[in-house]
Amino acid sequence: MTGDPGVDPRLPPMRITVIGCGYLGATHAAAMAELGHEVLGIEIDPVKRQELTEGRVPIYEPGLSDLLARHVASGRLRFTDSYAEVADFGDLHFLCVGTPQQPESLAADLSQVEGAVAGLAAHLTRPSVVVGKSTVPVGTAERMARLLTEVSPAGAEVLLAWNPEFLREGFAVEDSMHPDRIVLGVADPRAEKVLREFYGPLIDAGTPVVVTDYATAELVKVAANAFLATKISFINAMAEVCEVTGADVVDLADSIGYDARIGRRFLQAGIGFGGGCLPKDIRAFVHRAGELGVEDAMSFLRHVDDVNQRQRERVVHLAQAMVDGDLAGARIAVWGAAFKPDSDDVRDSPALSIAGALSLRGAQVRVYDPRANQTAKVAFPTLVYADSAVEACRDADLVLHLTEWPEFRAITPADLAGVVRRPQLFDGRNVLDLDAWRSAGWTARALGRH
Ligand code: UDX
Repeated sequence: MTGDPGVDPRLPPMRITVIGCGYLGATHAAAMAELGHEVLGIEIDPVKRQELTEGRVPIYEPGLSDLLARHVASGRLRFTDSYAEVADFGDLHFLCVGTPQQPESLAADLSQVEGAVAGLAAHLTRPSVVVGKSTVPVGTAERMARLLTEVSPAGAEVLLAWNPEFLREGFAVEDSMHPDRIVLGVADPRAEKVLREFYGPLIDAGTPVVVTDYATAELVKVAANAFLATKISFINAMAEVCEVTGADVVDLADSIGYDARIGRRFLQAGIGFGGGCLPKDIRAFVHRAGELGVEDAMSFLRHVDDVNQRQRERVVHLAQAMVDGDLAGARIAVWGAAFKPDSDDVRDSPALSIAGALSLRGAQVRVYDPRANQTAKVAFPTLVYADSAVEACRDADLVLHLTEWPEFRAITPADLAGVVRRPQLFDGRNVLDLDAWRSAGWTARALGRH
């Protein structure tokens, strides 16, 4: 049977808990309440917990606030700070804590995962299943399974499963309710049975399920992100070749994208990838490959990262050239700060990193992002933030389009007539109609295009 997942009347709702209610956890908690389950989330940050309890999400994610507020109001979704309460409430516990990059290394910081497992295990007195969703280096699940058995009063009756998430920011609710696939890394068929019941509505709606071992489940997530990052860096490297040969990277991507084996998605050349996942996940993967003695096999990912970082430098150089080689005193408008549209996330954002680099080189930079001005201000307080895209361009010598929000595509040269000092535009996402701007007398440039 295929169709929309919804509350399945044949399934008794399960009582589940979600450990860590950041971006991933809050989305999972709300989406699973939507499927009909009773959910208790644990969030140790008191400010975040209070917001969630009031049905508010501290991040911008389309549809998430509504879903969360609805299920907090229905009583199907609650939040706590107590591991004892969590262990008492649920039989299925989802680990959704963060695994950021360590400050001094490429490796992932696993302290939150280890802390969550240790905190929960001490209270697990009856048979239950702990399900890891966080992105972790391969080998972590095996270690956490041992820890659970050793520390839990219920010992071997506590099972572990690894069930990676593949949420895209901006589509997190959609991806939770209509996942491409469900991957279950298990060491005991009982864990698979419980999870198949739990995800029943999604499975009945036609979502494919892959049941595998821990190591494969852990690797699926990093392999997927490594592949996507490679695809982006491939086309960005091709953009460099296009520039020296007079070719056009957008026509190139369209042409190879028609080959079904290649596909057009993730071949959008531009200023590269950022965000809280792709960059840190490929670095952690390179680090882990080194520990496993297979660094040579994964060394291409270092190049993927290098190509990606180089796009940012290339834009800074191009911007410098467009203001006649002198950034000091040049006025530069930056459209976009988030690492991608439909998000207020500025973690490792190429847009903000370029804006920062230009400012450090003496340019007067004015940034406008429809959603991320506030988060950008926290990360980069020394930049100037404008209240609108047009306002950011006041007296500018150059306008940089760095995050492809739809509202930027709607701006016409006429909207900026009399606003800018020099009519110059750079499209860092290859989505603007350069010919239209050129016909209106603008100098318009992009990476990999003529
Ligand atoms: C990614 C994965 O897609 C998701 O499956 C995983 O769970 C988390 O990491 P996300 O970080 O939300 O999701 O962003 P994504 O849509 O993948 O984009 C990542 C970055 O790549 C963005 O900065 C985006 O602008 C850039 N990108 C994407 C390109 O530069 N070109 C493209 O063709 C596609």
